[in-house]
Amino acid sequence: MGKFQVMNHPLIQHKLTIIRDKNCGTREFREVVNEISTLLAFEVSRDMPLEDIDIETPMGTAHSKCLSGKKVAIVPILRAGIGMVDGILDLIPAAKVGHIGMYRDEETFQPHEYFVKLPSDIEKRQIFVVDPMLATGGSAIMAIDALVKRGVAEENIKFVCLVAAPEGVEALRTAHPNIDVYSAALDEKLENGYIVPGLGDAGDRLFGTK
Ligand code: PRP
Ligand code: URA
Repeated sequence: MGKFQVMNHPLIQHKLTIIRDKNCGTREFREVVNEISTLLAFEVSRDMPLEDIDIETPMGTAHSKCLSGKKVAIVPILRAGIGMVDGILDLIPAAKVGHIGMYRDEETFQPHEYFVKLPSDIEKRQIFVVDPMLATGGSAIMAIDALVKRGVAEENIKFVCLVAAPEGVEALRTAHPNIDVYSAALDEKLENGYIVPGLGDAGDRLFGTK
């Protein structure tokens, strides 16, 4: 079973408070989502494997370390997931980026897939699927279905979000038990498909479309 972890680093929690505020405007919301995403990536990448390497410094040989595991792909769920990509690339600039387009039916909250474009070697990569909101879990489950269908092992997938509802965490971990799930917060509940207290519609707040 993969793990579920709430990332309670003080900087992450402080910045999350800023974007929860209904008076936080589009520009600040976008900037702070980026900053939180960088901090989340730092935490989520803690278990990346290292190997020993000898390197010549100007003063001699250092017995040092370098990354030895799979290369990374970031896969945002469109559209709100796009807001998290640059913040992660700040830390892992060589990562490739795939995109999975999903929208929720406004009445049934059922997700619909409309776009999938992934790096050709996606099944060989460590994948960070990113989306600010894990509500019913439908979008995340369908996005990960799309990856598994293309040969990705669940063990290679980490789902990273900003705010999760208990219902979404449960649904996602039931559907895909071997992925790791990370969130900056675990909120109280879902109400009419929205996370309460949450932060509202992440896509609209990121792109100023409300
Ligand atoms: C939002 C959010 C997630 C999804 C979460 O996207 O960004 O993708 O809802 O809800 P779920 O867990 O119940 O599936 P939305 O469908 O509003 O699309 P958008 O990103 O284009 O705004
Ligand atoms: N999508 C959002 O953007 N916000 C929610 O609270 C739920 C789904």
